[in-house]
Amino acid sequence: MAKSFYDKLQDSDSSVRHANNESIMLQNRYQIIELIGQGGMGSIYLANDIRLGKRKCIVKKLKDDFFKDEDKDKALSFFAREAQVLSSLHHPNIVHVYDFFAEDDNYYLIMEYVDGRNLEEILYEQGKPFSESEVISFATQILDVLVYLHNHYPPVIYRDLKPSNLMLNEQNKIKLIDFGIARPYDSNEDNTHIVSQGYSPPEQYWGASEPRSDLYSLGCTLYFLLTAQEPKALQVCSPKDIVSSISDHIDLFIQRATAQDIWLRYQSATEMLEAIQPPVRPESFPAKYKTILLIACLILFLAVIAIAFMELLTTQGPITGDLTTENSQKLKPANNVSPLSSSLAGQDDYLGEPGALLIKDQELFKAR
Ligand SMILES: Nc1ncnc2c1ncn2[C@@H]1O[C@H](COP(=O)(O)OP(=O)(O)O)[C@@H](O)[C@H]1O
Ligand SMILES: [Mg+2]
Repeated sequence: MAKSFYDKLQDSDSSVRHANNESIMLQNRYQIIELIGQGGMGSIYLANDIRLGKRKCIVKKLKDDFFKDEDKDKALSFFAREAQVLSSLHHPNIVHVYDFFAEDDNYYLIMEYVDGRNLEEILYEQGKPFSESEVISFATQILDVLVYLHNHYPPVIYRDLKPSNLMLNEQNKIKLIDFGIARPYDSNEDNTHIVSQGYSPPEQYWGASEPRSDLYSLGCTLYFLLTAQEPKALQVCSPKDIVSSISDHIDLFIQRATAQDIWLRYQSATEMLEAIQPPVRPESFPAKYKTILLIACLILFLAVIAIAFMELLTTQGPITGDLTTENSQKLKPANNVSPLSSSLAGQDDYLGEPGALLIKDQELFKAR
């Protein structure tokens, strides 16, 4: 029996060439370069699309070593659905699918090549969690995809949101891959019970996933990215328990997303997208306006001081001058004023306090 493509690759220990040293070609078009991943559903190869000027692409091959025929049939139906779902989606953060075909009894999906790595690989490689601002940027992009999927007609539930299914390309853009178990949402249809431990919500365990299930998985994904700890299955996640510097806002955001009771979670991707933005503090005055205001206050203050000082000069100047010199003479009672006035004016202390003398004089006038 002729060996399948998969057997050839296995035989040659991941070499991607025929025995005669020719590289493997699919559909006379996709030239396999190397094996880059192996997962539950099959193998991932980097390839050249020779019809499009050797454009790089990804070949995802459905595995064919199933024990039971019914398992193979099920896997094939998922694989075909991945191709079908992906071909109906057009979003900058979702990997494009180009082709789906069978060859030599094997099934292949041809996809856009994402020049980057998945978030799980990146985190383990960098040896530390992502920063809060990086995670908010990822979450915003993922929520944008979820808004798109959940509002698609019919709505698409992704159902497998986790760090290894999110790729980050060279431009720091998130790309959602692996739509293997994604499916159009039909609340009447009994879902399959496929779960990813730690990332799947309780309802997915009994086959009742729905849009809010993706929001739960996103909460668990963000927890992993912020803490580098795998989320515990079926538990509310609080990243601040692990990394104390995480803000209360993001901690509460993730706790709410991972609530076990579906009604306590965010109720839609749109609501969650709005909630992720850090709370707007009462807008503090921009720094440049603060300086202008300070200078204006200073000028005003100096102006007030200057006016007050000039006031003082104009009021005090004549009194001091007048009373100490010739005017004090004027205030001295003349001999022809009243005896009372004369007797008061004659007292030394009244002469020493010209103001008082003046007052007393006025009082005398009034008295008259
Ligand atoms: N389009 C792609 N571009 C680049 N690498 C990819 C692409 N698709 C998958 N990969 C790599 O292969 C890995 C497994 O792919 P995935 O579709 O998640 O398969 P599985 O069903 O095995 O989980 C990914 O984590 C990623 O590293
Ligand atoms: Mg995957």
